[in-house]
Amino acid sequence: MITKEEVVSRDAIASRVKEIAQAITRDYAGRQLVMIGILNGAFIFLADLVREIELPMEIDFIRVASYGSGTCSSGAIRLVKDTELALAGKDILLVEDIVDTGRTLACLQELLADRKAASVRICALIDKQERREVEVAVDYAGFVIAEGFLVGYGLDYAQQHRQYPAIHRIVSGV
Ligand code: IMP
Ligand code: MG
Repeated sequence: MITKEEVVSRDAIASRVKEIAQAITRDYAGRQLVMIGILNGAFIFLADLVREIELPMEIDFIRVASYGSGTCSSGAIRLVKDTELALAGKDILLVEDIVDTGRTLACLQELLADRKAASVRICALIDKQERREVEVAVDYAGFVIAEGFLVGYGLDYAQQHRQYPAIHRIVSGV
């Protein structure tokens, strides 16, 4: 059992998702947008976000296993499921649930840039800026949240709690 407190309401998420979608709609007009969701955590955010973006786009997914430390070159992440679309010349927007140390996204950005994409930018629902260990530019951030372990709206603790409509901080039980 966990106890939790709500930190971002369902309504606040919905209006922030709309704002981000409007910015993406402006920024990517006339470009070849490919939205790539990072599984599993980004599935709800991506689903809501793409429905508010008024542009042609392709959608794909990627899944990585993280080893928690080290750098890309020493293999901090392993690809579990790769993308399937042709990415050369495309404008990729990586969609992540939460940026914590930054390792996952730094590695993925490097990996996708190697595939001759025109651009690779990052959109994250939550930016835990204060925990950053590896520099990564978050181009679109939903919420900056400094502390705590968060669940809901796609975010899990031990694979549970992803289904909550709001974002919660775990206060005990971890
Ligand atoms: P990092 O930025 O490479 O350290 O890893 C980010 C990943 O760690 C995210 O994609 C999440 O899967 C996970 N993560 C980090 N903080 C949280 C949290 O508060 N709740 C749920 N997952 C988290
Ligand atoms: Mg994740």
